[in-house]
Amino acid sequence: MSHLIAPSLLSANFLNLASDIEMVNNSFADWFHVDVMDGHFVPNISFGFSIISQIKSIARKPLDVHLMIANPDNYVDAFKKAGADNLTVHYETCTHLHRTVQSIKEAGMKAGVVINPHNPVELLTDIVTDVDLVLMMSVNPGFGGQKFIQSSLNRISRLKDLLIQKNSNALIEIDGGVDTSNAKALVEAGVDVLVAGSAVFGAQNPTATITKLKELSN
Ligand code: DX5
Ligand code: ZN
Repeated sequence: MSHLIAPSLLSANFLNLASDIEMVNNSFADWFHVDVMDGHFVPNISFGFSIISQIKSIARKPLDVHLMIANPDNYVDAFKKAGADNLTVHYETCTHLHRTVQSIKEAGMKAGVVINPHNPVELLTDIVTDVDLVLMMSVNPGFGGQKFIQSSLNRISRLKDLLIQKNSNALIEIDGGVDTSNAKALVEAGVDVLVAGSAVFGAQNPTATITKLKELSN
């Protein structure tokens, strides 16, 4: 499988959201990455259900919803209703992670788990066969436009080894500071899905940047 590109709408122009969504619809991007922040789990607040529903109404690619919220279990059905195709939760936010993952799948979505830069990848040893994707943060969550944490590259290799060892088909997604300068090394290390916010929406030509991320050229 060729790697996937998921532009993060957090860096889109909210005053022209429809045209940014249409740009992604017409590009080589594969998913829309949608960051939900609650001001508790992360020190920032982004957007909620009504905006996601409106995004869904014009998006022609799956919505990859990244929850940076406390108590995500309380909102699984509501995110499904709003249009999420993938629902990804942070390891620390789920007291009973296995149960959360099952409830996401029972609601009809792909289930993902996220680890932060300080979480050992081994934390996931006994859940990787239950999830559809593992999202590795390569910045501390909460904001777009941060610098890629270099040690993430080695962490991706370790995660890839873990998935092979456990015979897991989960996709590896990376989020934070991804751009055309590090995309190739990340895919070579085992990444299946590149999330990119500021690198895409801050570019002179966002469509061309998505193409470069897909072709791994810079
Ligand atoms: C950060 C979010 C990211 C963010 C990435 O907490 O999870 O998805 O939008 O932004 P960039 O690509 O600019 O680092
Ligand atoms: Zn994200």
